[in-house]
Amino acid sequence: MTTTRNDGETPASVSGCPADITRLYGNSPPGGRDDLWKRLRERHGPVAPVELEPGVRAWLLLDYQENLTLLQQPHLFSRDTRRWREAIEGRVDLAKTLPMMSWLPNALYADGAEHTRLRAPIMDGLAKVDMTATARMVRQIADELVDAFVARGSADLIGEYASPLPTLVINRLFGLPDSYGHMLGDLTTSVFGEDAERAEEAVARMQQYFAGLVARKADKPGPDLASRMLEHPSGLSPNEVAYQAALIISAGHMPTTHLVGNAMRTLLTDEVIRAAHADARLPTHDLLDHVMWTNTPLQVLAGRIALRDVRIGETQIRAGDALLLAIDAAHRDLTLRRGQTAPDTGLAAGSRAHLAFGAGPHSCPSRDLARMMASIGVSVLQERLHGLRSAVPPEELRLMPSPFLRGLRELPVTFQPDTPKGAPGPLTQEMEPVQAVAEEETPPEDLLGRLLSWWRGLRG
Ligand code: HEM
Repeated sequence: MTTTRNDGETPASVSGCPADITRLYGNSPPGGRDDLWKRLRERHGPVAPVELEPGVRAWLLLDYQENLTLLQQPHLFSRDTRRWREAIEGRVDLAKTLPMMSWLPNALYADGAEHTRLRAPIMDGLAKVDMTATARMVRQIADELVDAFVARGSADLIGEYASPLPTLVINRLFGLPDSYGHMLGDLTTSVFGEDAERAEEAVARMQQYFAGLVARKADKPGPDLASRMLEHPSGLSPNEVAYQAALIISAGHMPTTHLVGNAMRTLLTDEVIRAAHADARLPTHDLLDHVMWTNTPLQVLAGRIALRDVRIGETQIRAGDALLLAIDAAHRDLTLRRGQTAPDTGLAAGSRAHLAFGAGPHSCPSRDLARMMASIGVSVLQERLHGLRSAVPPEELRLMPSPFLRGLRELPVTFQPDTPKGAPGPLTQEMEPVQAVAEEETPPEDLLGRLLSWWRGLRG
C-alpha cells in the first residue's frame, strides 16, 4: 500500500458500503475486465464506486457518452489532482500514490492557461517532426530489433520488440544516439516493473536522463524535439522542459508498446481478423482502430477531479471527488456499438470515434506519430517473420496487472529462422538528423555521459 490513510478511517468521498465497492487493484478479476465492466454496469449503472488502493476510492465512468462529456468539460472536471479531497485532507500522499493519480509539474496535470503554456512546446515540437524521415527511421529501428532475434526462430514480441521500439524512436527525436535509447528503454521498463527497489532507482536515473538531455541541448542545440522545446516562445525553464520531455516518454512508451502488442495478439489469435487483414479487407490502420476499440492500450484514464457538486445519471458526485474514465468499458457500451459493426468481420469498420487517444484539451498530441510507429511496427513483423505463430495457447497469454494499461506481459512467438538483414549502413552525416545521431565511442563527461557509463558498467 502506498497511500497515507489512517487505518479504520471512513473515507470522506465516494462513500458507500465497503462490500459494494469493487477493487481495481490486484490481480485481474475472474472472468477478466470485460466481465467486470458488465457486472459494474448491471449493479451501478453508468457510474460505479471503485477502490484504487485499500481505502482509496473513486468513481468509474462506464458509458461512452459520459466519458466523452467529462473529457470535454475541463471547467467542471480538473486534471489537477492536488484538488482531490483525499489529497487536500491528507489521506493520500500524491508523491507516493499510483502514478496515474499522482501530480507532476507537466501538461498532463495542468488546467487552463497553465496547461496551454506547458502543452504548446510539445505540440509545436511534435508538429515540426518530419514524418517521412521519421517513418524511415522507425522502419530502420524495427529492422534492427528484428535482426537481433530473427536467426533464433523465437522471440518475445513485447520485451524484444514492441517495448524498445517507441523508446528508441523518441530518444532519437530528442536528438540522442541509440545507446541512450537502449538505456532509456531499460529504465522505463524497470519503472513499470514489479521490482520496487529497481523501480525507485530507475525513477532517479530517469530524472538524470532528462536533466542531462536538457543540459546538453541547451549547450549545443540541434534540429531535435528537445532543442525545439527549449527554444519555444512559451519560455519554459530548462527544468520545465525536462518535465515535459519526461511526460512525452511516459505518455508515449507503454501505450504504443501495447498497441503493437495487442494488434499482434489479435492477428495471432483471431482467425477472422487475420483473414480479413491478409486479403486486404482490413488494412493495417483499420486493424489498429479495431484494436483500439476492442483492446485499447490505455483501458482506464485517471485523475479528473470534480470542481463542484454534479449529478451524473443517478449518481451524486461531490466537489473534490476523483473520477476515472473506463475507456475500455465505454468501447463496449452496447448503445454505441449496435448497428456499427461490419457483418463479415464483426469489427467497428473504419470508425475512429473511439476514445483511445482521449478527447478534449488533453487529447493525445501525438496520435499521428503513435499510429505511424504502430503501423510500421506491425508491418515489419509481418514482412520479416515467416510462419509466425504464438508459442503458447491464447489462454496462457498473461495481461499486465495494471488497472490502467491493457497489454500483455510477454508475447512469445515462433517463426522460421532467417538471416538478419545486417546493419543498414554507417550512421553518417549525410543521413537526416532525425534518422541517425552518430554514436559516441566514449561518452562525454557531462551528466548524460556519466549516466551512460554507469548503465554500461551495470550491464558489464
Ligand atoms: C498508441 C499510442 C498512444 C495512445 C493510445 C495514447 C493515448 C493518449 C491519451 C488517451 C491521452 C490523454 C490522457 C488524458 O486525457 O488523461 C494522451 C495524452 C498524451 N500523449 Fe498520448 N498516446 C499514445 C502515444 C503517444 C506518443 C507516441 C506520445 C509522444 C511521442 C504521446 C504523448 C502524449 C502527451 C504528451 C500527452 C499529454 C497531453 C496533455 O495532457 O495535454 N502519446 N495520450
